Amino acid sequence: MIKRIAVMTTGGDAPGMNAAIRGVVRTAIGFGMEVYGIEEGYSGLLQNMFKKMESYSVSNIVNKGGTILRTVRSKDFKNPEKRKEAYAYLKKNLIDGLVVIGGDGSRMGAYTITKETGMPTVFIPASIDNDVYGTDYTIGFDTAVNVALDAIDKIRDTAASHERVFIVEVMGREHGFLTLECGITGGAEIILLPEFKKDFNIEKISNFLQSGIRRGKNSSIIVMAEGLGSGIEFAAKLEKKMGFEVRCSVLGYIQRGGTPTARSRKLGLSFGYNAVKLIKSMKKGESKMVGIQGEKVVIHDMKKVTGKEREIDKGAYEMNKIFSL
Ligand code: F6P
Repeated sequence: MIKRIAVMTTGGDAPGMNAAIRGVVRTAIGFGMEVYGIEEGYSGLLQNMFKKMESYSVSNIVNKGGTILRTVRSKDFKNPEKRKEAYAYLKKNLIDGLVVIGGDGSRMGAYTITKETGMPTVFIPASIDNDVYGTDYTIGFDTAVNVALDAIDKIRDTAASHERVFIVEVMGREHGFLTLECGITGGAEIILLPEFKKDFNIEKISNFLQSGIRRGKNSSIIVMAEGLGSGIEFAAKLEKKMGFEVRCSVLGYIQRGGTPTARSRKLGLSFGYNAVKLIKSMKKGESKMVGIQGEKVVIHDMKKVTGKEREIDKGAYEMNKIFSL
């Protein structure tokens, strides 16, 4: 039976990660296990940055954005020689199970640890991008949607007053899940996603906006994913082509910060609880992930989910085209 676990956060921070740390630490203590926090993710693992967590270590954090364990995107962990050093630290600290909280890249790291050392690992999906296969939602996505939505609502006021087209650039280098969600709920006229590159066509976009003007529309909001390039540059090109004012707001890192919503906290707490419940009786060589499908927490074997890509909801994307006519 697993007696001493470690927990870390890696990749981009996401609001609700602290709730997940709290869920892991309090559950482990409740089950009579010892729990260590590894600061700065895989990078901290390579530098033996372990610290014993007590119940009070996670007091007053459920409401806080960011991660108290901090996070780093580690390049060194991709190096097999370096990984051997990390494994030596896991051994030295007598860790017999590891919980990794992070995005898709973090999942690969956890699975690799199990494959190379046999250590049981559980992966908890947390990312504002919601781009993890095997779960309907990642920790932090709901908060980021609401932060972006609040910004879009404010931009709509000034867009309508000045009769301007606004481009709102939303985070997401590779995937448009976040952009799609806040584009639909923010009532965007146009949503531009890396998954539907053919629609990112200035001719098409300008024709669509012109037809809106003919129908009496005096302002429009375009929500565009970061992965398609610079919103500022696109705004300048569109302004030149259409001959009227186009402005851009890049939402950037504000989407990763702030107070987690109730949904993000609940997801963090219940993923943390379920991860520890699971790892308690896991065997050497096992690697799993927790996720949510519908309202239910689900468990997946990492072998079946790692490396798979989550698909964007094409139906929702098409639906928004109807709303913006
Ligand atoms: O955490 C996800 C994310 O915010 C993406 O939406 C974004 O493309 C990326 O991280 C930015 O990464 P970095 O923090 O390395 O600038």
